[in-house]
Amino acid sequence: MNSFERLKGDLRLPLIAAPMFLVSGPELVLAACRAGIIGAFPAPNARTPEIFAEWLQTIRKGLADSGHPWAVNLVMHKSYARRDSDLEMTVEARPPLVITALGSPRDAIEAVHSYGGLVLADVNSVEFARKAVDSGADGLVLVSAGAGGHTGQVSGFAFVDAVRKFFDGPLVLAGSISTGRAVRAAEVLGADLAYMGTRFIATQESLASDDYKSMLVNAGPADIVCSPAITGVPANWLKPSLTAAGYDLDNLEAGKKPNFDDPHQSLKAWKHVWSAGQGVGTIDQVQTVAELVDQLDEEYQAACQLPAEGKNS
Ligand SMILES: Cc1cc2nc3c(=O)[nH]c(=O)nc-3n(C[C@H](O)[C@H](O)[C@H](O)COP(=O)(O)O)c2cc1C
Repeated sequence: MNSFERLKGDLRLPLIAAPMFLVSGPELVLAACRAGIIGAFPAPNARTPEIFAEWLQTIRKGLADSGHPWAVNLVMHKSYARRDSDLEMTVEARPPLVITALGSPRDAIEAVHSYGGLVLADVNSVEFARKAVDSGADGLVLVSAGAGGHTGQVSGFAFVDAVRKFFDGPLVLAGSISTGRAVRAAEVLGADLAYMGTRFIATQESLASDDYKSMLVNAGPADIVCSPAITGVPANWLKPSLTAAGYDLDNLEAGKKPNFDDPHQSLKAWKHVWSAGQGVGTIDQVQTVAELVDQLDEEYQAACQLPAEGKNS
């Protein structure tokens, strides 16, 4: 099996470019991996199994020379129609990491271990973290408060400590991590890797529209609202996109029931109402992934030089 430590040793920066619905595709994954971090994409971003197969091949071929680690994000909800076929196709493509979401990682573990891959379970509460560990996940992605997409509600400071009480395996911390300094902070808190989503939406390689990217450039933390109104579960949304789509910000209701059966059914919501985490204020331009990772690396290295008492640089 891949060793997590060896996989981490292949990285320039302890960072995963987080998988994002309608945002991450093969171009973003390849650019992230070539820049020296881990690239990841959600399987449902490939609209059909045929496209999914193509994407998996493109990434495999693109990284064949380097053997650099990459990840596929699988929807584990039992009602998701492509759940089993996405898993089968993933096993054939042998990504070193599989990140499970929206359900127990249990059914992916044996299959991914069969080819030597590792399973990280995306969890947004201490309770789910414990369940995922009990299911045999190799590691956890702790989605804490302030994260883009379906966010957690627990502060990253509290989350890592609470999980470290019962789990000493690989931990990835997510939620508003948007600078190299914050990547270092995640390590100081006790995580092995940081998980960064929002910052990568505003890259040239992301599948997001230009309007979405410029909204991110102009937004700050006060432009983010957490609401279950759009998908039925709490997620962080850009207020200007909600207003543009006709929502009344003073009357966002938890009207919808979550529907994980077919992520493409929620396509309309995610296409017109845009998600971002509270770290959005760090985005002031659209960059290539390589430029962004260079910048994050510089910030990270500078943060590593800080004296232990943590003076501002
Ligand atoms: C637009 C958007 C779409 C997302 N889609 C997914 C997804 O399909 N699967 C998933 O596991 N997480 C998804 N996430 C969550 C990210 O993987 C990650 O946990 C989050 O972006 C980290 O917080 P940050 O955005 O503050 O960096 C999404 C996040 C955003 C912003």
